[in-house]
Amino acid sequence: MLSVALPKGRLGDQVFSMLEQAGYGGANPVKGSRRLVVEDKAAGIRYFLVKPSDVAIYVLHGAADVGVVGKDILLETTPDIYELLDLNIGVCRMAVAGLPNATFCRQALRVATKYPNIAKSYFDAQSREIQLIALNGSIELAPLVGLSDVIVDIVETGSTLKANHLKVLEEIMPISARLISNIASYKFKAQAIQAMQDALAREANKKGEGTK
Ligand code: PRP
Repeated sequence: MLSVALPKGRLGDQVFSMLEQAGYGGANPVKGSRRLVVEDKAAGIRYFLVKPSDVAIYVLHGAADVGVVGKDILLETTPDIYELLDLNIGVCRMAVAGLPNATFCRQALRVATKYPNIAKSYFDAQSREIQLIALNGSIELAPLVGLSDVIVDIVETGSTLKANHLKVLEEIMPISARLISNIASYKFKAQAIQAMQDALAREANKKGEGTK
């Protein structure tokens, strides 16, 4: 049995449709279902549906052999896993955003984020002094209520920024979903993992062609 950790939510929907197109459609979970494990017995695969930020934890500890996770999480947490493939889905960007025309008078820029390590590396590289404010969600609220000067967050459609009258001030890096593997599993379940990697690579290439 191959165990696969998949993210719930927005990215999860895209992952399931990609798996289906890649020939792994035997266990598509029923929409709205609260089940956390779905099995495709014929293919010998068991899927775990987890919070996107927890996928790499399941893979790191070997509870899942492989998983799909955003590059943002990998950069933030640097887990000791193999990154096998850029899936070309969940495409977005990491950016600094804030109110247009804002002026910052403090010596240390106050930065609210779910990604303290990414934010720190980015501003450190520019020798800019910051005060980190670590939040867990609804990051866009912080500059609106004076909790921070700017945010570091992912921007996908840009609609959350727009709805809150914020704009991208600086681009940090492009982000997309990655197929990852547990290090031991990659050795001991090589055939099953390689087959899934190859099938997904074909689909990822099609997506890549589509965005060129
Ligand atoms: C993410 C991110 C932004 C939003 C960006 O939040 O933190 O808030 O999506 O997407 P958009 O550019 O398409 O609007 P998420 O939906 O994960 O919720 P959260 O605020 O609870 O982190």
